[in-house]
Amino acid sequence: MISKKTIQRTGLILMGLVILLQFIPMSKNNGQVMIEQDISACVPVSEEVKQVLKTSCNDCHSNSTVYPWYSHIQPIGFWLNHHVNEGKDELNFNVFATYKKKRQLHKLDEIIEMLEAGEMPLSSYTLIHKNATLNAQQVMLLINWSKASKQYLQRDTLALVQ
Ligand code: HEC
Repeated sequence: MISKKTIQRTGLILMGLVILLQFIPMSKNNGQVMIEQDISACVPVSEEVKQVLKTSCNDCHSNSTVYPWYSHIQPIGFWLNHHVNEGKDELNFNVFATYKKKRQLHKLDEIIEMLEAGEMPLSSYTLIHKNATLNAQQVMLLINWSKASKQYLQRDTLALVQ
């Protein structure tokens, strides 16, 4: 039998641990954005597309995350940061222009795939960020933009073939 006292003690220890967690510094994803490295430096990005990327993708795929208030509560903050870092490693629009052309084309393909499958933005994110949910028009807008961007990147190669 676990005594009431043991339960109380365990509760207190857990509470103490959660309080201690709050003091561990969390690195924030609020880095610099250099325009020459941004995706807009290598493909045309309309204002409309920019806006959709900003509200639906950039928290995890850029150098500037807008942190909600609860991100300051641990372990929520650590969990969020893990997603941000993972997303950024895969695709970062702020340094897209520094990727090799092959990688850029591959990432654009991945964007089309993710959007067609409805996998991005992550559902754990849209659950809270309702405004990040993409409607059918926004999905089409991003898919068409990705396709156009691929053609734009391949324009020199295409011209050579003709
Ligand atoms: C809440 C964070 C979050 C948001 C918002 C988000 N992503 Fe992601 N994204 C991730 C994570 C984490 C991964 C890597 C793990 C995975 O594939 O599930 C990822 C992976 C990807 C990949 C795969 C890259 C590759 O090469 O495999 C693409 C493409 C992508 N996201 C596009 C988008 C687009 C486009 C949006 C906006 C419409 C978006 N994401 C919004 C977190 C996010």
